[in-house]
Order: sequence, then C-alpha cells, then structure tokens
Amino acid sequence: MKIEQDVSLKPYNTFGLDIKSHFFTTVQSKEEFIEAWNFPEYKDFPKLILGGGSNVLFKSDYRGLVIVNQIKGIEIINSDENHVFVKFYSGENWHESVEWTLNNNLSGIENLSLIPGTIGAAPMQNIGAYGVELKEVFDSLEAIELYTGNILNFNALECGFGYRESIFKHSHKGKYFIYSVTLKLNKKPNLRTDYGDISQTLAEMKVDSRKLTPKAVSQAVIKIRQSKLPDPKVLGNSGSFFKNPIISETQFNKLQVVHPTIKGFEAGKNLVKVPAAWLIEQSGWKGKRVGNCGSHEKQALVLVNYGNAKGSEIYSLALQIKKSVKENFGIDIEPEVNII
Ligand code: EPU
Repeated sequence: MKIEQDVSLKPYNTFGLDIKSHFFTTVQSKEEFIEAWNFPEYKDFPKLILGGGSNVLFKSDYRGLVIVNQIKGIEIINSDENHVFVKFYSGENWHESVEWTLNNNLSGIENLSLIPGTIGAAPMQNIGAYGVELKEVFDSLEAIELYTGNILNFNALECGFGYRESIFKHSHKGKYFIYSVTLKLNKKPNLRTDYGDISQTLAEMKVDSRKLTPKAVSQAVIKIRQSKLPDPKVLGNSGSFFKNPIISETQFNKLQVVHPTIKGFEAGKNLVKVPAAWLIEQSGWKGKRVGNCGSHEKQALVLVNYGNAKGSEIYSLALQIKKSVKENFGIDIEPEVNII
C-alpha cells in the first residue's frame, strides 16, 4: 500500500473543492484498511475515512491522512419466503447497489435511486428520499472498532436511527469504520409512490399503474432528481446542505399566523418538520450567487460551487443563510453535511 503526499482531493469530494490532503491512500480490503489506520508513521496525525465524498465540506487543506474506502463486493447471504438478505461491502457505490437490486428483482431501495455516495455512508445518516429511509430495509452492519481492530455487529435498533441520524454521528463518532451493510430486500415489491411527484411522474412516463415495477419507480425518482438536483459532475454540490428542522407544534402554529404559506410535516408527537428549502427560499436565498458559490436555482437547500469556490467561502455562505433563517423565523437550521 502506498501513502502519497499532498494529493488534491478534487476527485474525492462532490463539491469539487481543490484542496489537498497531506497524506493520502486508498484501501481495497479490511486488511489494508487496518494496516493504513495503524501505520506507526501516521499515528499522531488526524485521519479521515472518505467514501464518495458526497457529504463533506472541507474548509481548508486536510492536515492528516485521508483513507479512501474502495472495499467492494456484493453477496447474497440468506433468504426466506419473502426476503433476500444481501451483504454490500462499504466501498460499493450506493446507486450501483440500487441498480444491482433492481437487476436481481429485489425491491426496497428503488426510492433511494441516484443518491450519491457509498454503502458505508448510508447508515451513518440513515439516508432517505421520496418517502423511504434506509432503516426500513436495514438488517445489520459490520463495523471495525478502530481502537482494537475487532469486527462488531450492529442491528437496526443498536444503530439508533433517526431522521438523518445514527449513533455513528454521536456517541460512536470516530470510533468505528463501517465495513459492510446487510439489507433485507423484498422478493414481492411493496411500492411507495405517495411522496411528492412520484405518481404524477409515473403518469407522465405513461406507466400503467397495474403494471408498476420497482424499476419504473426508480426511473421516476431518477427523473425527478435530475430535474431538481444539480449533477455534482457538472456543478459541485453535496445535496441538501442543511437538515429540515423539527420544531414544536406550538412554535409552528405561531409561525403559521405570520406566514400562512409555511409548510410542515408531522414528525412525531407535537413535533413538525419544516422544509429548510422553504425557509431558505423565503429568506431570499434561492438562486442567489455570492462570489463562486450560491444556493441552487431549483432547490434552495442545495449549495453549489460554480467552479472555483473555496470551502471557506461555501461555509461562510452557509453561516449567512443560517443567520437569516434564524432572524426571519427564529429557527436554527443545522448542516447535514460534515464540515471538516
Ligand atoms: N421547497 C421550497 N423551495 C425549494 C425546494 C423545495 O420551498 O427550493 C419546498 C417544496 O415545496 C416542498 C418542500 O420544500 O414542499 C420539500 O421539498 P423536497 O420534496 O424537494 O424535499 P426536501 O425536504 O427539500 C428532502 C431530502 C432530500 C431528498 C428529498 C426528496 C433532507 C435534508 N433532504 O429534501 O435529500 O432527496 O427530501 O425526498 O431531508 C440529501 O439529503 O442530500 C437530499 C437531497
């Protein structure tokens, strides 16, 4: 295994930031990962594991060792009457994994088509889109405990999944490397077309609702995403920059008096999830460009790099947006991306 120095991370972060990592390597197996993590020469440096780099914002060069996870493999490990249990190694690309399930006539993650990133990153924040969250098909994961090198198993309950949350972002942060994820996929599709524009898009695609397939739902999701979300290969971005804030029903009702068009979705007892995109748009940021970055013209929640933005510039834009949402609505919005 080779450790390189001063490597540009431009191909390894979807914001397309041209920042450098002091030390850099890629790993293709668990043994290589453990070796890289424990190199005595880099023992005292910070270390960062990168999957697809689709949920990170680097404020500056990284003064440590970046390890890019390229551990691949997909294995069917079990099945019962209704399910197939498939183990995906964490360096597999998420969308290619979705395609694999569709090509094998398995259903469950078609609504999560085209989400950037890797399998290993998916449970970190319980990825979700179009009415489905990873936790609904999640069976278990294997993680390497960084301190000991031991492999531990976590079931769904032990992962503490919530909206864009898991224990790997909190109590277990920086302590484990997710090595594989096993999903419990359906042999008989249970299709979900109730969210947003899915059914309308299927109708536009002239899909007969009696002959609906997971592939068709996937194609509809891809169509919607491509019409709203910028392709990181064309315009650097990391998807939703902020999480949708969850506020009390009391606060929501008060806001509704002043802002009758405010949107809200039930998020548990007496709790309402408010679309951050709406708050940002109403605060005048949608489509606004500040220097080399801005809020996307079709989805206010997505911050984009117009080409030569520095991470610090995008970070400063995010702070300005956060401040104005707080001033206008009294709501704190928190980043969904990891800021490094
Ligand atoms: N909206 C606006 N302005 C906009 C965009 C949207 O007011 O510029 C309003 C819409 O009218 C809609 C509401 O906001 O009522 C929600 O919009 P949308 O369905 O596009 O979803 P979102 O809440 O903005 C979330 C996820 C996305 C995911 C979509 C679709 C988060 C932080 N984001 O966005 O995930 O693709 O739902 O399910 O939960 C990501 O995490 O990177 C991501 C793209």
